[in-house]
This record gives sequence, structure tokens and C-alpha cells, in this order.
Amino acid sequence: MDSFIDILPKVELHLHIEGTLEPETVFQLAQKNNVTLSHASVEDLRSAYQFENLQQFLDLYYQACAVLVTQDDFYQMTMAFLTRVHQDNLVHLELFVDPQSHTDRGVAYEVVINGIWQAMKEAQENWGMTSKIIVCVLRHLSPEMGMEMLDQTLEYLKQHPTAPIVGIGLDSSEKNRPPNLFQDIFAKARDHGLKAVSHAGEEGPPSYITESLDLLKVHRVDHGVRCLEDMDLVKRLSQLRMPLTVCPNSNIRLCVFDKMEDHTLKVLLEEHDLCVTINSDDPAYFGGYIGENYKNVANALKLSKEQLVKLAKNGIEASFLTEEEKGTLY
Ligand code: HPA
Ligand code: ZN
Repeated sequence: MDSFIDILPKVELHLHIEGTLEPETVFQLAQKNNVTLSHASVEDLRSAYQFENLQQFLDLYYQACAVLVTQDDFYQMTMAFLTRVHQDNLVHLELFVDPQSHTDRGVAYEVVINGIWQAMKEAQENWGMTSKIIVCVLRHLSPEMGMEMLDQTLEYLKQHPTAPIVGIGLDSSEKNRPPNLFQDIFAKARDHGLKAVSHAGEEGPPSYITESLDLLKVHRVDHGVRCLEDMDLVKRLSQLRMPLTVCPNSNIRLCVFDKMEDHTLKVLLEEHDLCVTINSDDPAYFGGYIGENYKNVANALKLSKEQLVKLAKNGIEASFLTEEEKGTLY
């Protein structure tokens, strides 16, 4: 089954580009940019990757973000990731970036996007891999700060009309940060033609998924696995054919499920006929890139080849590609 997964063309829709920074790269960039880290060595940092919840992970993730300073840093990070997932036969990617975790430290918005975009262009030229950017609002910060980030995005798009920024997302600490706090930002983003996605129902309650649908008018729900606590919501997600970007390794590493055998992905896919997709979230932190996520969940839940193909096709269907572009991938 692993070799079948290796050659299956895959799409990734839930990937935080800053979550691809491997500990070796964190140390290398820290040294280059004179950033002090709280861990003594690569091994020390890697051994700290044991999390009991989302917040423990985020504390380390934001600390590591501080090593990213120049446009070339963002380019190198993205290029290393794209090179890695090209080996997994990733054919299309819609990546998340958290501009606020960089602009807050004095890094210019365009430095972040220019660096990432350059690597994306090269991946398309070299391998035909297509990709898009979704800028995320950090929900632990104020809605005003999120609005500022959206305004920077709209200004960037005005200056760079061909930039691949296609959507806005909502990420970071979920508990006690309901989507309704951010609805003005999403309304404005929508008015400017951006698509919407939101992390909901990972650690937060199913009502955050409902709010994401009703108030943020999302096109996809990121994670969404807690929908199973509300059967009316599950029915609605099925009727809407609302995609869920599920991240199996992440869910185990952040203790959303105790072990992979307990993961509800197969139930969501087969019993409730939801548009479930497989994604890697923060692969450097959660023990695996897209291929490993497919393999781990396939082995633990004994997924068939047909089910794996269905999951991969759901990824194409749930993407923000045009119908014509999707047709070339199915
Ligand atoms: N969840 C929420 N916010 C995040 C994550 C995540 O897994 N990774 C980076 N920001
Ligand atoms: Zn995520």
C-alpha cells in the first residue's frame, strides 16, 4: 500500500509554511540572523516536540518563526519544503502563512510573500507543481490587528495583481476565540474576492464550525473533526459537501485522538459521506509530510486503495483551482 501511496498524485490544502521549519534549519537561520533560541541544540529542540495540546505546540512554533528575517529565508524555507513534497508526488498546494508573526517583529509584509512566491514560481517551472497562498489571521491577537493584516494583503495585491494570494484563513489558539470575533475581516476579504477558510472543531466546540459557516462563510473547514459531536451539523456539512481538511499526524501529536486507530477519518468519509481530505498541518513538528500522513492513516484504519483515491480526489475537488484546472488533475 505504501508504494501505491507514493505514486498517488496528491493535493495539500492545510499546510502552515512556518510549520515546515526543521530543527536543523531553525538553528542554521538563528545563527545567521543572530537570534537567541531557548534550546541548546538541534537534538534538544527536537526532543521538545512532545505536546499535550495545541498551545504547547504554538509556543514553540512562534518562537521558531523569529529566525525568519530576510526574503531569502522565506524563499529557502519554502523551496526546501516544495523539494521535499515533490518526492511525495504532491501536484498542487494551497499553503497557509501567518504574516502577523513576522510583521510584529518588524519584517515587512512583502518580504514574507515575495520569498514564498519566488519558490512557488520555481516549483511550477521545474516540476509543474501549482500552488496558492492563504494568509491567516492569528486569532489569539485582536480583530483590529487581523484587519490590519488584511489591509496589507489588499495593498500587496493592488501592487502585485498576479500574486497567488487567493484566500484568508483563521488559525492559532482556538479555545475561547470564536470565529464571530473576526466576521468583519472575513466580510471585507469576501468583498475583495478572497476565498475563506477557518480552523474550527480541532480543540474548539462544534459551534465554532457552525459559526465559520454562518458568519465567516467559509469554503472549507480546517480540521473540523469535532463535528461528530453535533449530528445536525454533520448532516449539514454533508449536504453542503463542505470540505474538511483533516490532519491525521497533527491530531495524534496534539492529543485530539489518543492513537491513529482511534481517528474518525474513516467514519467521516464512509459513514457520513463527507468531503474529507488528508493534509500535514505542520510536518516538521508532527512527524511527517503528506505521504506519511496518508500512510499512517491508511495503515491504522486499513483504508482500501479506492478509499485513498477518493481522499486524493476530494483534495482536488476541495481546492481553489478552476474546474478546468481540476479536470487535468483527476
Ligand atoms: N492549529 C492552529 N493554528 C496553527 C496550527 C495548527 O495546527 N499550526 C500553525 N498555526
Ligand atoms: Zn493548521
